[in-house]
Amino acid sequence: MKIGRILSGMRPTGKLHLGHKLGVLDSWVKLQDSYECFFEIADWHALTTHYKETEILKNNIFQMVCDWLSVGIDPNENIIFRQSDILEHGELFLLFSMFVPLPWLERNPTYKEQLREIEGRDLFTYGFLGYPVLQAADILIYRADTVPVGEDQLPHLELTREIARRFNYLYKSVFPEPQAKLSDVPALIGTDGRRMHKSYGNTIPLDTEEEDLKNIVKNMVTDPARVRRSDPGHPEVCPVFAYHKIFNIGEIDYISNACKTAEIGCLECKMKLFVKLNEFLTPSRERRRYYMEHPKEVWDIIYEGNRRAREEAQKTMNLVREAMGIEIWK
Ligand code: TRP
Ligand code: SF4
Repeated sequence: MKIGRILSGMRPTGKLHLGHKLGVLDSWVKLQDSYECFFEIADWHALTTHYKETEILKNNIFQMVCDWLSVGIDPNENIIFRQSDILEHGELFLLFSMFVPLPWLERNPTYKEQLREIEGRDLFTYGFLGYPVLQAADILIYRADTVPVGEDQLPHLELTREIARRFNYLYKSVFPEPQAKLSDVPALIGTDGRRMHKSYGNTIPLDTEEEDLKNIVKNMVTDPARVRRSDPGHPEVCPVFAYHKIFNIGEIDYISNACKTAEIGCLECKMKLFVKLNEFLTPSRERRRYYMEHPKEVWDIIYEGNRRAREEAQKTMNLVREAMGIEIWK
């Protein structure tokens, strides 16, 4: 018995990293048994910022879905689909746009932040402002009640509920008000101690091979005050130690002491972390290799997911059209 329905999605921006796994993917995997899940490849959303780079989309989609499958998303239990294949999302987005007040979008903190932060792109477009309206359509078209996402998505979820409420009030009660489900794991920091982000070059991609992983860990930032091997360290400010706390819980007391007393050197400490990280990444790396070698299986999974998603989206659109008095003539 499933206790509810989930919709979640990601923009296909390429290969995923360890931060994605801990932050979102692991919670998808955990929830997939108890919820009916729709996992969306949000390629239209990718276009809101990357409308000039459409040639990379197909490969990005393939890489991302390989990552999903490699961490254990079960394609038989769940619906994995591509947003742009379900035209009904576009229809619902259009209908919502008739009654969503502009100020709701203009005051959205994510919108304002991204306009400030993202450089080198013209984002003063209609589609970029409407990003959360499209996201609301994604969620509501499946009448999902639960949306597992990162904290950065909370403003979009709030807006989704406002849109659902407004629709239900203006026409007829069609939509439930979906709730965000945040993962209880704190965000993984980057290998340099900053926020983990591809543009900073401080991520650990999920498909990292053993030798590359070793180099990444060797190059991790450590306690800057520990210049010489004989200097005592401060584990609480060291990114390597932050990783030990997640991937090497059994040894954290030892490492903390050995660092403070300069008993252990940073290289040795890093090699301990490397071993644990490598163990952690090995199973998914192997599954990923399988899918990379069987691309047709991946595309078939999406094709089948599209079929199932479309069926559900069409049911909702019938209710929406009926509520608004614009049924299709038969
Ligand atoms: N905006 C989300 C992100 O950037 C991706 C996304 C698109 C999404 N549609 C969604 C997430 C629907 C949850 C539900 O990560
Ligand atoms: Fe960081 Fe380990 Fe070096 Fe201490 S010994 S500063 S925890 S890398």
